[in-house]
Amino acid sequence: MEYINLYPATKFSRIVQGFWRLADWNFTTDDLVEFMKKCIELGVTTFDTAEIYADAECERQMGLALKQAPELREKIQLVSKTGIFKIKTKNGFMGYYNTTYDRVIQSCKESIERLNCGYLNLYLIHREDPCMDHYETARALKDLKEMGLIREAGVSNFDPFKFDAFNHAMDGQLITNQIEINPGCFEHFNSGMIDLLGKNKIHPMVWSPLCGGEIFKDKEEKYTKARTKLAEIAERHQVDLDTIIYAWLLYHPVKVLPISGSNKIYRLKNAVKALDVRLEHYEWYEIYTASGQQTLR
Ligand SMILES: NC(=O)c1ccc[n+]([C@@H]2O[C@H](COP(=O)([O-])OP(=O)(O)OC[C@H]3O[C@@H](n4cnc5c(N)ncnc54)[C@H](OP(=O)(O)O)[C@@H]3O)[C@@H](O)[C@H]2O)c1
Repeated sequence: MEYINLYPATKFSRIVQGFWRLADWNFTTDDLVEFMKKCIELGVTTFDTAEIYADAECERQMGLALKQAPELREKIQLVSKTGIFKIKTKNGFMGYYNTTYDRVIQSCKESIERLNCGYLNLYLIHREDPCMDHYETARALKDLKEMGLIREAGVSNFDPFKFDAFNHAMDGQLITNQIEINPGCFEHFNSGMIDLLGKNKIHPMVWSPLCGGEIFKDKEEKYTKARTKLAEIAERHQVDLDTIIYAWLLYHPVKVLPISGSNKIYRLKNAVKALDVRLEHYEWYEIYTASGQQTLR
């Protein structure tokens, strides 16, 4: 496994395990402890979650696992997120954001309690909040660092302008932007986000690296086109198609940290295997243009 310093003091595994779908896995606590141990054996030591995942149920289940096997805590780097909430209304539920000082502090404390983890290695503001007071939210994250409740802070799904604005309020302390990149999603190449991160030497964490599984089955043209090209390149390198997608993500000089969302260790192994695949430079562009969404200017 390769490790990367998102910040001088904090090492994260290049391949991260995500737990967004955990509540659907029907894992017992024993199963989850076993799964976490196998991830660690593979060198995948960074685990990603969020308070909003299954209404905090994912954090709760992870916390039960860490309570049962407390020795795992110091072997992993825990990432969680705050900022997305929902409220019951007359017509069902309404989603909204809350990144106020008190809410961020309280959410962080609640996450740490649910996770039985003592502190978080990295805490992210989950989404851009149109009603955010930059300096107030920044003060909350800085205070959490001071209190020793989080080691580092970052954001998720921010566009370049908003990232830059918030990082200014944070005195340049944001260490990542967790964003979606995969062979069917190029938003952050087109927005200039990748360029801004490259300029600041910040490494993005990447969610849904396999398009949330859609790349394997969706009949939409962008997926079928990408799938055909990926299969051809996978054949060339004698590896599975998912390994080629991870290799494509890992190849980029901005040094992304892909977050695998599968609950199957053999699929996580396919992600780890990508660290040994050497793509030809032109093959990166084959995949970049494969879905038909991106053209080279
Ligand atoms: N910051 C954000 O806003 C945000 C948003 C979404 C996700 N995330 C994070 O990113 C992590 C990863 O996201 P993701 O779960 O969408 O990642 P993903 O790895 O792109 O998708 C995982 C899904 O793909 C399926 N899959 C994997 N390989 C497959 C194959 N060969 N054939 C068919 N299906 C396959 C998995 O099923 P199996 O389990 O059956 O293998 C699983 O349902 C999440 O856990 C979460 O931590 C963050």
